[in-house]
Amino acid sequence: MTTIAVLGAGKIGEALLSGLLQGGRSAKDLMFTERHPERAAELTEHYGVAAVEVADAAKRADVLVVAVKPQDIDPVLDQLAPLLGADSLVVSLCAGLPTALYERRLAEGTPVVRVMPNTPMVVGEAMSAVSPGRHATAEHVRVVSELLSCVGSVVEVPESQQDAVTALSGSGPAYFFFLVEAMIDAGILLGLPRAVAEKLIIQSAVGAAKMLDRTDEHPVILREAVTSPAGTTINAIRELEKHGVRAALLAAIEAARDRSVELGKAHEDH
Ligand SMILES: NC(=O)c1ccc[n+]([C@@H]2O[C@H](COP(=O)([O-])OP(=O)(O)OC[C@H]3O[C@@H](n4cnc5c(N)ncnc54)[C@H](OP(=O)(O)O)[C@@H]3O)[C@@H](O)[C@H]2O)c1
Repeated sequence: MTTIAVLGAGKIGEALLSGLLQGGRSAKDLMFTERHPERAAELTEHYGVAAVEVADAAKRADVLVVAVKPQDIDPVLDQLAPLLGADSLVVSLCAGLPTALYERRLAEGTPVVRVMPNTPMVVGEAMSAVSPGRHATAEHVRVVSELLSCVGSVVEVPESQQDAVTALSGSGPAYFFFLVEAMIDAGILLGLPRAVAEKLIIQSAVGAAKMLDRTDEHPVILREAVTSPAGTTINAIRELEKHGVRAALLAAIEAARDRSVELGKAHEDH
């Protein structure tokens, strides 16, 4: 059985630990590092997983999952560099950090798999895209994909597509939250009580998401099915098109991709 250490048990790290336990991993095969002792004690009490020092994690774990914020990566790499052998698999969940950064700073030949997850990991519905680094094999990718499938869906993409993935599924939940927020405002405009507007929109979002997931239909077909001739929906669609909502989404996601590229450049030389 693989021993897994999560380095940095914040929102994403905790969600992964919780998903791995629910997916049938034993607590004794898991460990985590955390800088605040109170937070560490809380997690150990809740999940029965041991909090360890980085040195311990490096010695005992087969897979090290890095889940600190990208700006906190330097001290983690400094700590890991003298401790890790090239037989440990390093998994980076850090947005924007290239596998080349880890490869430069860790022992020659260390396999690294980069992952872009998203926040629905906290409810076991993440979308994670995995990319192998230079020394990661298909078997490493398989191991990482299996781990992540405990907390949602997984696809493999070349690392060159990770900026697009970041813009699409990494930030994606925020676009849906924004849309839901705006639709609730519309309910208020039409005179509905806030609680009612919230319930109507959130359940409609859940229902629409389940239809997209469970039927094999293209979104266009599903939308056409609720757009009857001279009906109410087509009037709304005309306004959406008139206000350029489709073009706005294309431009917004392109802007997110550009920002991801820009942030990635900051890690090119160190
Ligand atoms: N949240 C998202 O939507 C999302 C989506 C995709 C990818 N990610 C990636 O997932 C990673 C984690 O994000 P998050 O939202 O879970 O952040 P978070 O809640 O801030 O979690 C990071 C945790 O790591 C701890 N930490 C920092 N340095 C450490 C060290 N040297 N040793 C041990 N623990 C350390 C932090 O402690 P402190 O509290 O002291 O800082 C914090 O508890 C990020 O790299 C992010 O890019 C997040």
